[in-house]
Amino acid sequence: MAEHHRARIEFDPRFTVADVPERLFGSFAEHLGRCIYTGIYEPDHPTADADGLRGDVLDLVRELGPTMIRYPGGNFVSGYRWEDGIGPKAERPKRLDLAWQTTETNRFGLGEFMKFCRTTGVEPNMAVNLGTRGLQEALDLLEYANHPGGTHWSDLRRSHGDEEPYGIKLWCLGNEMDGPWQIGQLTAHEYGRLADRTARAMRMFDDSAELDLVACGSSSRAMPTFGEWEAEVLANCYESVDFISAHAYYEPVGGDLASFMASAQDMELFIDGVTATADAVGAKLKSAKKIDISFDEWNVWYQSKMADSPHEPWSTAPRQLEDRYSAMDAVVFGSLLITLLRRSDRVRAACLAQLVNVIGPIMTEPGGPAWRQTTFYPFSDASRYGRGKVLRVNADSPSFATEKYGEVDSLHSVAVAGEDGSITVFAVNRSLETPMTVEIDAGPPPGTGEVTCSTLHDADPDARNTLEHPDRVTPEENTKVAVEDGKISVELPAMSWNTIRILP
Ligand code: AHR
Repeated sequence: MAEHHRARIEFDPRFTVADVPERLFGSFAEHLGRCIYTGIYEPDHPTADADGLRGDVLDLVRELGPTMIRYPGGNFVSGYRWEDGIGPKAERPKRLDLAWQTTETNRFGLGEFMKFCRTTGVEPNMAVNLGTRGLQEALDLLEYANHPGGTHWSDLRRSHGDEEPYGIKLWCLGNEMDGPWQIGQLTAHEYGRLADRTARAMRMFDDSAELDLVACGSSSRAMPTFGEWEAEVLANCYESVDFISAHAYYEPVGGDLASFMASAQDMELFIDGVTATADAVGAKLKSAKKIDISFDEWNVWYQSKMADSPHEPWSTAPRQLEDRYSAMDAVVFGSLLITLLRRSDRVRAACLAQLVNVIGPIMTEPGGPAWRQTTFYPFSDASRYGRGKVLRVNADSPSFATEKYGEVDSLHSVAVAGEDGSITVFAVNRSLETPMTVEIDAGPPPGTGEVTCSTLHDADPDARNTLEHPDRVTPEENTKVAVEDGKISVELPAMSWNTIRILP
């Protein structure tokens, strides 16, 4: 008989970890490759609306369910003049984008982004340029965006057709300023000072508790300055910011699939490290305040393959970073989502990087169709059902050996209690080959006691959705669910993402 694992999950709806923050299901749209142009924005597309937004993409974004979008970068923002993207399109300048070696037409800018946010019902998360620019330009942008009227910048916005202020609450103070690839890279001390000065000036415009400011943390846990960077930056701006950012991308290295399946271990260590560092700075400052994490870039990204598809330097909206995700990638991706939920006591905002075409869950062809990548499904499941309170879960499963993280549990899971009385368990079987039966002890069965399970799995871990076969990999109803005497058991295939719903 083939090997089969047995695992157990137990929780009690009375014991919670945190409420799931609305901002946990954010995404990210950068002026990079075809994320904006021919992704979100394509005025000539047959489905485009009057604002040039692709209707087919808008529908898929609504189905995906992001709650917030970070914009306009990314590395792009560190060379961006936000004024280039406002006002009559014919007058907007073309510029070189040094970050991605392309030409930016500025046909899409802040006003168009706000239309996109309103149409899809997402919160804007705006980044300011602290690479080539600084405090004054950040204040000008804030005034243009959020002041009602009667001043230079706010009246300019009104003259551009947006009478009402945008009311943007969440702002990133630069992007990855620790990275040598960043235009205008700074030392931790330089950046910490700049972030503090910028944040304090922004709060002179808006001193409400609703203005949330994110300082740049490390670009990854592998950065040589990881830890020191956070400590020095926060020592300089602890009282003026609300969040410190974290960015992480994963891919298999040297064919080590076991470690890849366990990528969430790295994300957990990252969260632990940033939390401990931020709390240590707070303790030293004798501050009552806690700094939360904005995990504002996370995904699977095959960075090692970037050089395989070079683009024509200084071309406009070339194909860049257009990773095609496999069934296996979607399972790792789901596991990252589970970690974000499990740690939502301190991760109070997060952005899947990115939204369309560029390492995105949605793909498009210019003038052609749009479709869902495999990673679309774990995100839409989590955004739809992962709302409410994260429960304290005890889980027990066989482990597997990994080169990077040692022994790792095969089962990775989290439970979320919804306001409607439902409980959703997101579970990943990280084993490469072995299916698993999970017993779930959720206490007395709530409501009807009816349980459903949807499973994303493919016998071919490398299966992908493509233009020709857009629905090759989709979640399916898992019929191997049983409920007996209030005990639930579900069979999870090897390498699978599962959404188990205990209905009210
Ligand atoms: O998401 C792609 C890039 O990754 C972003 O521009 C940058 O912030 C990160 O390095």
